[in-house]
Amino acid sequence: MPIVAPSLLASNFLRLQDEANMLNASEADWFHLDVMDGRFVPNISFGLPIIQQLRKATTKVLDVHLMIEEPEKYAEAFKQAGADILTVHYEACTHLHRNIQQIKNLGMKAGVALNPHTAIGLLENILQDVDMVLIMSVNPGFGGQHFIPQTLEKVRLLKQMIIQKGLSTLIEIDGGVTLENASAIVQAGADVLVAGSTVFNAVNPLETIAALKNS
Ligand code: DX5
Ligand code: ZN
Repeated sequence: MPIVAPSLLASNFLRLQDEANMLNASEADWFHLDVMDGRFVPNISFGLPIIQQLRKATTKVLDVHLMIEEPEKYAEAFKQAGADILTVHYEACTHLHRNIQQIKNLGMKAGVALNPHTAIGLLENILQDVDMVLIMSVNPGFGGQHFIPQTLEKVRLLKQMIIQKGLSTLIEIDGGVTLENASAIVQAGADVLVAGSTVFNAVNPLETIAALKNS
């Protein structure tokens, strides 16, 4: 069964406690938290204070996706805010290896995210150091976009690379995940499904999460 990580970007921020309670009562495994700086991506979302509050609202894993430049400046603050997994973008890190070591030394799991145009092969010399690879299946910055079909091939390729190297790196898919495409994504090799609008715009979010879990 895949790990299901609803993205709170699509939640109602005025009712964050209720949204957290709903996820706590659901089969969701992780909270996916999208931090945007208005520089790396053309949108600003939320930051440390919201994550601090969510830390008090759940014991589930806080999976923090940093869509920001210079993530090394903030890694320690995200640890203090309660992040369990910290993912940085390949395209935002000149010194990716150093950034990954920093995150792990702070006691968090480290992820690297790839934009849709970034090739899997570029991970050749970093894959053994990361706990998770987040493959963007939309261009980062906004929820509610359509899944880019070529992503499936990237997932298959990455899965092969992980197996060849004898690693247990998780593959997370983020963007445009729906009840219709979730099974194909899992079949291609994804371990973690992020879903924002599919979960929070659903008439019954609990059932939708359960359905994603059974993909
Ligand atoms: C996009 C974010 C995603 C987003 C997914 O930049 O990284 O996590 O919230 O939203 P949906 O599932 O609606 O595509
Ligand atoms: Zn995300």
